[in-house]
Amino acid sequence: MKYLITGGCGFLGTNLSAEVLQRGDELLVLDDLSRMGSDRNLEWLKKQGRFQFFQADIRSAGSMDEVIKKNRPNAVFHLAGQVAMTASLADPRLDFENNALGSLNLLEAVRRFSPGSTIAYSSTNKVYGDLEELEYAETPSRYVATGYERGFDEKTRIDFRSPYGCSKGSADQYMLDYARCFGLKTIVFRHSSIFGSRQFSTSEQGWIGWFVQQALEAKGSPGKDPFTISGNGKQVRDVLFSSDLVDCYFSAVESISRVRGQAFNIGGGADNSISLIELFTFLGRELGVELRYKSLPQRQSDQKVFVANVQKARKLFGWSPKVDKEQGLRKMIDWICQNAG
Ligand SMILES: NC(=O)c1ccc[n+]([C@@H]2O[C@H](COP(=O)([O-])OP(=O)(O)OC[C@H]3O[C@@H](n4cnc5c(N)ncnc54)[C@H](O)[C@@H]3O)[C@@H](O)[C@H]2O)c1
Repeated sequence: MKYLITGGCGFLGTNLSAEVLQRGDELLVLDDLSRMGSDRNLEWLKKQGRFQFFQADIRSAGSMDEVIKKNRPNAVFHLAGQVAMTASLADPRLDFENNALGSLNLLEAVRRFSPGSTIAYSSTNKVYGDLEELEYAETPSRYVATGYERGFDEKTRIDFRSPYGCSKGSADQYMLDYARCFGLKTIVFRHSSIFGSRQFSTSEQGWIGWFVQQALEAKGSPGKDPFTISGNGKQVRDVLFSSDLVDCYFSAVESISRVRGQAFNIGGGADNSISLIELFTFLGRELGVELRYKSLPQRQSDQKVFVANVQKARKLFGWSPKVDKEQGLRKMIDWICQNAG
């Protein structure tokens, strides 16, 4: 198998790239190295095995054509993109060009030069919008979406919100439509929050890693100013550890004839859902530190609850998460301790 991974030096891309090398398959990595930490991931990947690296921008149709035409990969994992909701509000055009246009460039290159390639796309649960019309109950530590205790499935109404939601959602729909109109072998994963090693978190993206860093800093300097959170901390997400994400992409590719042209909600599921308050309680207990934080207003387009119902993925390609949230969080703490600075 020959794999092309766009965004292959990002958090998820690096984990997927490492797995290709581990399997002894052929690997092509495309990344513009714009993300903080991607250069470190590239150096780390070079130590894992041999691969071709293209420092290229998915916004350039010419670059995408050239890479696809020359290499005709069996499968493309499309991870490159603009990843932060806040950045999309600051520069909607840049966000659109990266996520919507960049994805169309890939689809067009594959349609014209390598129509047999499978494309797996990393979409987001933000395609379901704010879900503000639902009823929410409140416990001392979390919101609960009444009637959706086992999560939201793929029949949930699509409702793009925020430039990031629109650009990712647009690419998500193009992926599905290129399967219908042109017979391409595309699959869409609507991801919840993912965390794990090789993730260089910022306050805008990678919240689990970010708060683990805050907790470790609070432990190192107890007098440190409180950190800030958006909202009251009761917002809930289901979290998925990176090794489960890797399994998902490879399992789906193996079943592509059955799953092509379909979207799947991929996350840790209800059993691995957690609120910020619950995360802080866990980290406080695990690290023996008291976490002090200040609440800012809720972020625009922030869902009170998103938990993926992953039954469709389980049924159609036999995937389900294996690493529970507490195991995953302990691995994340270890990784950040070893790679800080
Ligand atoms: N990590 C999550 O929790 C999560 C959740 C939902 C969806 N996703 C999606 O999964 C994908 C990967 O996420 P991640 O967490 O690994 O992000 P990341 O920022 O770590 O990785 C993205 C990579 O793409 C590269 N890149 C950005 N713009 C590019 C461009 N124009 N051309 C070429 N390369 C470019 C960056 O340098 C980076 O290495 C993203 O598309 C993201 O929207 C991630």
